[in-house]
Amino acid sequence: MFISELKEKIEAGSAKIGVIGLGYVGLPVAALFAERGFSVVGVDVKAERVALINQGISPIEGKEPGLAELIAGVVKSGGLRASADYADLKTADAVLIDVETPVNHAHIPEYEALRSALKSLSAVLKEGALVLIESTIMPGTMRNVVLPILEECTGRKCGQGFYLGNCPERVMPGKLIQNLTSMSRVVGGDSAETAAAMQALYRNIVQADLDAADWITAELVKTVENTYRDVQIAFANETAMICEALGADVWRVRELVRKSPGREMLLPGAGVGGHCIPKDPWLLASSVKGLDVRVRLIPAARDINSFMPAHMLDLLKGRLKDLQGKRVLVLGYAYLEDSDDTRDAPSQYFIKALEAEGAEAVVHDPFVKEFAGDVYEKAQGCDAAVLMTAHSQYRLMDFEKLKAALKTPLVVDGRNLWDKMDAAKAGMDLIRLGDFSL
Ligand SMILES: NC(=O)c1ccc[n+]([C@@H]2O[C@H](COP(=O)([O-])OP(=O)(O)OC[C@H]3O[C@@H](n4cnc5c(N)ncnc54)[C@H](O)[C@@H]3O)[C@@H](O)[C@H]2O)c1
Repeated sequence: MFISELKEKIEAGSAKIGVIGLGYVGLPVAALFAERGFSVVGVDVKAERVALINQGISPIEGKEPGLAELIAGVVKSGGLRASADYADLKTADAVLIDVETPVNHAHIPEYEALRSALKSLSAVLKEGALVLIESTIMPGTMRNVVLPILEECTGRKCGQGFYLGNCPERVMPGKLIQNLTSMSRVVGGDSAETAAAMQALYRNIVQADLDAADWITAELVKTVENTYRDVQIAFANETAMICEALGADVWRVRELVRKSPGREMLLPGAGVGGHCIPKDPWLLASSVKGLDVRVRLIPAARDINSFMPAHMLDLLKGRLKDLQGKRVLVLGYAYLEDSDDTRDAPSQYFIKALEAEGAEAVVHDPFVKEFAGDVYEKAQGCDAAVLMTAHSQYRLMDFEKLKAALKTPLVVDGRNLWDKMDAAKAGMDLIRLGDFSL
């Protein structure tokens, strides 16, 4: 099939779509295409996930507006079917790949899932199908990893036997459907015609720009935008620590800095987590490994942001001194407010650091089953509380009740969630990250 024929099929709504990897990104994408009337098969290696989806249940917990209803609807109508068997992708005209793309301890991309998905897909890929990588990848991966695997394993040439594109996702947990439908996308194709077919496909779910590009531009845009965010957060975090040392309030400083045009200082915080911001800067940095470029700012930013959980511990130690034998209530385990996503969450590092000091962590998180429960019961007998995640529930904290439960009336706020006056009224000592003002 020529790419022009595939484009016509997409425009007619008769193209069959496959999605590999039904996680935070792949599942909502698959469900949205199904809702727009396409026949969609989603493949995942996790059998329990596949079974849940086929019962019309979303495996993603946390506040995710519209997702549970969307999945229930498209599974019931037969538009979306999940499977653990790649043979179900045999008839797919377009296959989107949304598997995880982590980095290892040396910050080098680990493409086990991506390679495996590409190899399994190659064995069943329909002649003339369009393969789209939505996963975030190191710039250069399309040319150096994806293309050779597909050409070798299918025995066909890109641009003839199959077509290949890169369309990175821009979603954030908590706003999956909203982001997917309203944020612009870069469609990087192996040719202008492939990019045009990609535009025709994504136009069904995206009500924003679909900017045509080549592979390397698409790969760079995604990793650069997340690196930009990481660097900006690192600047805010460093500023927060400077403010503490000078007896100032970073939140007030930030508010006033933002009055100067173009100075959109981001929020400091207890750390950066998730499956994007902590690793995408390394994907960008890795892309020039061995080339004549000295990458200095990106590792420095990563270093500052990775340090923040340890800094939270320093704030606590500043007041409690010796942590040996102390029990500390950790508020929030997910990396993001109102989400169940615990990947690379700063709380994990904070807890490790706490335990290394001989203290015990009592963890509460309303969205993580293992740590759910009544927050005031968990606080009972703890020496202090440390807020790591800004879940909405914590905004309504009853300081009187918390004080009654804690041994010491001490809370450390790593997310600027609470007001010092509110805490003071209840007789609580509140330490805010970045604020040592009187
Ligand atoms: N989570 C986000 O907010 C976000 C945002 C933008 C981009 N991304 C990128 O999207 C990609 C996916 O992220 P995610 O958060 O959805 O990850 P995830 O871990 O939630 O989902 C990945 C899914 O792929 C499945 N999988 C792994 N190997 C497989 C294989 N060989 N065959 C079939 N299924 C396989 C896993 O079982 C899992 O369900 C990553 O590259 C990530 O960087 C994520």
